Amino acid sequence: MKIVRFIIGVAFFGAYINTTQAQSDTAPSLPPSGQLCISCHGAQGQGMEPLGPRLAGLSTEYLVKQISDFQAGHRLNATMQPMAMVLQGESVSQVAAYFSAQTVPVVTAELRGQHVTFTDTAARLAYQGDWARELPACVTCHGPSGLGGGLFPRLAGQQASYIKTQLQAWQAGTRKGDVDGMMASVANKLTIAEIDALANYFANLK
Ligand code: HEC
Ligand code: HEC
Repeated sequence: MKIVRFIIGVAFFGAYINTTQAQSDTAPSLPPSGQLCISCHGAQGQGMEPLGPRLAGLSTEYLVKQISDFQAGHRLNATMQPMAMVLQGESVSQVAAYFSAQTVPVVTAELRGQHVTFTDTAARLAYQGDWARELPACVTCHGPSGLGGGLFPRLAGQQASYIKTQLQAWQAGTRKGDVDGMMASVANKLTIAEIDALANYFANLK
């Protein structure tokens, strides 16, 4: 059941990337309610470490989902929850569309088949996972080089400190809302050393 869903997700990557490229001609503008966001996420949603993570290049549907997860208390964060509450009605999708359309560096996707062996712990977990622990490869869902698509967020070039706090939030149970608990199940199998290694690995893909 779950596997089928991943495959469907992955199969949609191609279509998703084409749509976002086609949309860039009619870039949405930032509605007044979104002015507040740029003080921590940057005017182009590029992120301002440690104030706020990068939002640029994440899909509109993913951003809308996260804002409603903060509003519903599925994501517990003292800074971001009150910010999400400011957005109501149409402004949620308008702000999400604005940040989604902001450009992110182009990263050439590396496919699993290009690697014969992995010497680096993080690269091995990212591309092969660890079947002894039933830990799937990160790229199965997050795409080659963690480029993301749809409801699977891009990890490539995201801040290392933010990737780390999210994996720890799933372990602590302060981030929920992931369908079927798929990320909680992944995060709970990782050691702190692996979390650090993965956070640096994906942050450096830029
Ligand atoms: C005072 C700083 C601050 C402001 C202002 C702010 N944010 Fe955030 N935002 C954060 C922090 C910190 C996080 C990380 C929260 C966590 O660790 O769960 C975050 C996370 C997010 C995420 C999750 C990103 C992801 O990759 O899942 C979204 C979406 C988001 N913010 C949207 C917004 C929007 C839209 C606004 C404006 C209405 C806004 N933020 C205003 C600090 C801020
Ligand atoms: C079974 C599919 C799946 C696998 C495998 C997977 N992820 Fe995820 N991941 C997701 C989904 C779905 C989300 C978004 C969850 C949500 O909506 O809150 C996510 C979110 C994340 C986030 C939060 C990003 C953000 O912008 O807030 C991080 C960090 C992350 N994953 C890291 C990893 C790492 C590292 C691995 C490999 C060890 C991994 N994931 C494997 C499905 C997966």
